[in-house]
Amino acid sequence: MARSAPQESVSCHLPREVGLNVPLVDLKAQHTELKAELDAAVLEVISGGMYTPSKHVAAFEEEVAAFCGAKHAIACNSGTDALKIGLQAMGIKHGDEVITTPFTFVATIEAIIQNYATPVFVDIDPRTFNLDVSRLEAAITPKTKAIIPIHLFGQIAEMEQIMDMANAHGIQVLEDAAQAIGSTRNGHACGYWGKAAALSFFPTKNLGAAGDAGMVLTDDDEIAYRSRSLRVHGMAKEPYLYEDIGHTSRLDEIQGAILRVKLRKLLAWNELRRRNASIYDDLLAGSAAQIPFVASETTCHPYHQYTVRHPDRDGLMAHLKEKSVGCAIYYPVSLHVQPVYAFLGHGEGSFPETERACREVLSLPIQAHLSEEQVRYAAGIVAAFE
Ligand SMILES: Cc1ncc(COP(=O)(O)O)c(C=O)c1O
Repeated sequence: MARSAPQESVSCHLPREVGLNVPLVDLKAQHTELKAELDAAVLEVISGGMYTPSKHVAAFEEEVAAFCGAKHAIACNSGTDALKIGLQAMGIKHGDEVITTPFTFVATIEAIIQNYATPVFVDIDPRTFNLDVSRLEAAITPKTKAIIPIHLFGQIAEMEQIMDMANAHGIQVLEDAAQAIGSTRNGHACGYWGKAAALSFFPTKNLGAAGDAGMVLTDDDEIAYRSRSLRVHGMAKEPYLYEDIGHTSRLDEIQGAILRVKLRKLLAWNELRRRNASIYDDLLAGSAAQIPFVASETTCHPYHQYTVRHPDRDGLMAHLKEKSVGCAIYYPVSLHVQPVYAFLGHGEGSFPETERACREVLSLPIQAHLSEEQVRYAAGIVAAFE
């Protein structure tokens, strides 16, 4: 019996579909673009021997404060810590209620619960995935002490209305801007509205460190002072004298140096994300995939994520993976039905728009280092999938 030819040579004679690999995230591409500067920045810190926050972290704080138009920027170890420290610096404590949405990364409610307060959920606006302001008033009680609107996927929440309501009730606002650096609404950057805001520089964010990093932004001198103290164990004016029960949440000098190099590229990289988004918008028009709604008269969207809805989301996801197009679900399970948060007392059906989003959303490759050809290829596959 003749031996069959090896698989490799058989397939050479079959018609092959020409495919591209389109990763959801490729962080090496950022490094390749900035290799000389990044390598020099890292080496300078390592050889200088100063690893705790020093000149690069201080300069990075000033540069981000200027970029976002904030008076103070306090760098810390993660976006999660920025939320925790921000809430603590605002005085949130046991017995307080903090309103947010269940359609967010878990860090948002960890920060509330780890400050011994109670998260109160408000469902999302199905168009933007952000807090539905029409449901906000009903969630406010005498115990409500803060609201955390999330600027999900990079689009700023309806802050004017949220602030009107918060101010009318004497409630503080902490913006979860973890996904939103570079975004604007009515000409203002994220962090403009709230008493404070939390940024994340997790590696996959639009501005990403080579590890964990985050920042509190505020115009309030007292919150800035407390946040600075809280990130080093509550130590403020004098060494080894503690004014607060704090955290270990310094930003490493090496991350500060890396982030300064990347910050200089942020606007250009966000523009490329916006170009990619407009390619998707054009090519997906009329397809079964519902493109993201952007309040374009008010909003400059930095597209941390480009998130579509699809009636057969799981089928689309499997199909994209087969075609080497990366994608991910943010978020597959709402926080209100996570087993660990069952003690909050919500069940299936409590937040229908969040639950529907969890079933329908899919985020597509959008990062700056994709070529137009890669984005067109990914969009073509999504558009053809019924
Ligand atoms: C909405 C939101 N909040 C908070 C965080 C927490 O940031 P980090 O991962 O830097 O702790 C993230 C990061 O993924 C986020 O997306």
